Amino acid sequence: MADIIWALATSHVPSIGAAMDNNKTTDPYWQPLFDGYAPARKWMADNTPDVAIVVYNDHANAIDLDIVPTFSIGTAEEYPVADEGWGRRPIPPVLGAPELSEHLVKELIDDGFDITVCRELEVDHGLTVPLSVYCPDPGQTWPCPVIPVIVNVIQYPQPTAQRCYALGQALGKAVRSYPDGLKVAIFGTGGMSHQLAGARAGLINEPFDRMFLRAIETDPQSLAVLTREDYVREAGSEGIELIMWLVMRGALDEKITRIHEAYHVPASNTAAAIALFDNGVHDGSGSPIRM
Ligand code: DHB
Ligand code: FE
Repeated sequence: MADIIWALATSHVPSIGAAMDNNKTTDPYWQPLFDGYAPARKWMADNTPDVAIVVYNDHANAIDLDIVPTFSIGTAEEYPVADEGWGRRPIPPVLGAPELSEHLVKELIDDGFDITVCRELEVDHGLTVPLSVYCPDPGQTWPCPVIPVIVNVIQYPQPTAQRCYALGQALGKAVRSYPDGLKVAIFGTGGMSHQLAGARAGLINEPFDRMFLRAIETDPQSLAVLTREDYVREAGSEGIELIMWLVMRGALDEKITRIHEAYHVPASNTAAAIALFDNGVHDGSGSPIRM
């Protein structure tokens, strides 16, 4: 039986990747953000999964805005890194896990989620920046293969937060029904509060972000009942990316253990956060007790 061992929630701001690619992580602007990543990175390096499921949104790089699937899953052997207008990032290719992907697609469709299947997919900063947050120096290959799970948070009407949470619950069940004993990590990406354009460009709502960081761990249902309008009003037109954290959370156990958290403003135009969870409850001796 496969199992989800840990979960990483992280912002995916493109300039975080650019700061790493251009050796600017110790510049005064960036250092506090990257200092906040260090303990999580160390813990994750000690707990390498066999596969990472990355829940993210494409930003009109691979998915044309004329055809916008609500939920999609990649089933490819490899996902080329998209050129978003300033050249491809100098990072390793993103390898897939097609057998587990196909299993997830089938289980989710049987469970009532009409998933779009992506046999070819270029991955943009929504996926590659979280991989860099996880593993800053991958060398020739990332630590594990990746399964992209794409959510439409770009074009109205986005899926409801409740539906994202339910997708996560079904995804967790689908992972656990896979016969091989794979250790799986899951990433929820995007957020926190930010709005890139319009009259409220630059919006940061720290009280909402702090509330969200608490509730994603202890009371995700209270976040699932918020409407898409609530997310846009409170977190900004791009802050609605936070609904993808609910897909991650739904895949986890009811009780989880927070390993690390950091919140920093600003990263580009956004409030950036990282939150790392062990999927289980600790007994104090270091090893999680699965509930
Ligand atoms: C920025 C943030 C995003 O989430 C994104 O997808 C693109 C840009 C930004 O703040 O620059
Ligand atoms: Fe984004």
